[in-house]
Amino acid sequence: MDPITAATHADPYPYYSTLRANGGLDFDPHLNIWVASSAEAVCAVLHHPDCHVRPAHEPVPKAIAEGPAGRVFGRLMRMNEGERQRCPRAAIAPRLQDIDPRQVEAPVKARLLRHGAEGVRQAQFSGPVSVVAQLLGFNPTDSHLISELTGDFVACLSPLSQAPQLEVAHRASEQLARLFQERIVARDSQLLNGICQGFEDADPDSRTANLIGLLSQTHEATAGLIGNALLALIRDPALHQVLRDDPTQINSLLAEVQRFDPAVQNTRRFIAAPCEILGAALSQGDAVLVLLAAANRDPQLNPAPDTLLLDRPNRRSFSFGSGRHECPGQALAMDIARASLEAILERTPCLDQLAWHYRPSTNGRIPLFSDRS
Ligand code: HEM
Repeated sequence: MDPITAATHADPYPYYSTLRANGGLDFDPHLNIWVASSAEAVCAVLHHPDCHVRPAHEPVPKAIAEGPAGRVFGRLMRMNEGERQRCPRAAIAPRLQDIDPRQVEAPVKARLLRHGAEGVRQAQFSGPVSVVAQLLGFNPTDSHLISELTGDFVACLSPLSQAPQLEVAHRASEQLARLFQERIVARDSQLLNGICQGFEDADPDSRTANLIGLLSQTHEATAGLIGNALLALIRDPALHQVLRDDPTQINSLLAEVQRFDPAVQNTRRFIAAPCEILGAALSQGDAVLVLLAAANRDPQLNPAPDTLLLDRPNRRSFSFGSGRHECPGQALAMDIARASLEAILERTPCLDQLAWHYRPSTNGRIPLFSDRS
């Protein structure tokens, strides 16, 4: 195992603990990357002004730089620092906080009709983006297309994708931009209207890109949270019984699973100017792998970190990031995951029938389910 393959290993947590024991911020000569694993190091890197989200020499990955997907990528707040991050964030983040959880429940439950693994996959991969699309004014039929196009677009974010997938991602980003253009003209959603007001004096291409960004940020991470919560129940039937007896515990389960077994195991930063972090000298151009999942299990952050505790007091977590890029969709993601998990457990109360494996990824921990034959 290495700090990257750990993301999809069956149990990476003992390995993360050995990394933390080596000092928390260490250089990995095989991967040629710094690895931040302790809570202190992860926090220091995420909050450091010289730790940027993209390398200075390659703001957009070369493989997509020349096409439409690259033009979207280059404008995402997630992939920028300075004004290109702060402006779209200021336009969008406050509006995401205003979403009423009741607006989430109905579209989740209306869509999830299938039983077994097919229903689970639908709830993980098609449901969450459809909900966000409907909040942004798309009708239920179009929101289905939007979630398919988003699945195609996010391929351009993975270093594991090949040329044919990147080509599909380019076409998907063009189509998503066109579909958003129609919604922006119609302006019949409160959320979209609020976001457009926030972008009034800004570049319209940044507005479209960051609307697509809301869909792409939702897609895999929410699928991972729903899937990892389901896995926690499959691994511990007593825990599943607790939820059967008291379904209101779903909120506590999701709150603990996002810490205990996070969907986004790691993120990266690139050093923009020579700097010192926790006594280590980092040079311009160095890369840092930030192990969010390892930091969550640091005993300095949470007592008894390796125990899944529904009623954990003062839970602390890096699963949604920290600092200037911290996830603005956290509350929405938790609402979507709660409604989705409730719907899954109603339709598939017996989880023994599900087999699973992790989807190949360098940072996402996303179980894919199938029916046991
Ligand atoms: C369980 C689901 C989710 C997880 C685990 C998650 C996790 C994260 C993490 C770790 C980051 C920070 C990345 C970094 O600093 O390198 C992030 C950023 C972001 N997330 Fe989420 N996210 C989730 C769902 C969502 C949803 C539903 C939305 C919006 C609808 C969203 C929108 C964003 C945006 C726009 C950013 C970039 C913020 C910035 O760069 O200023 N996320 N998310």
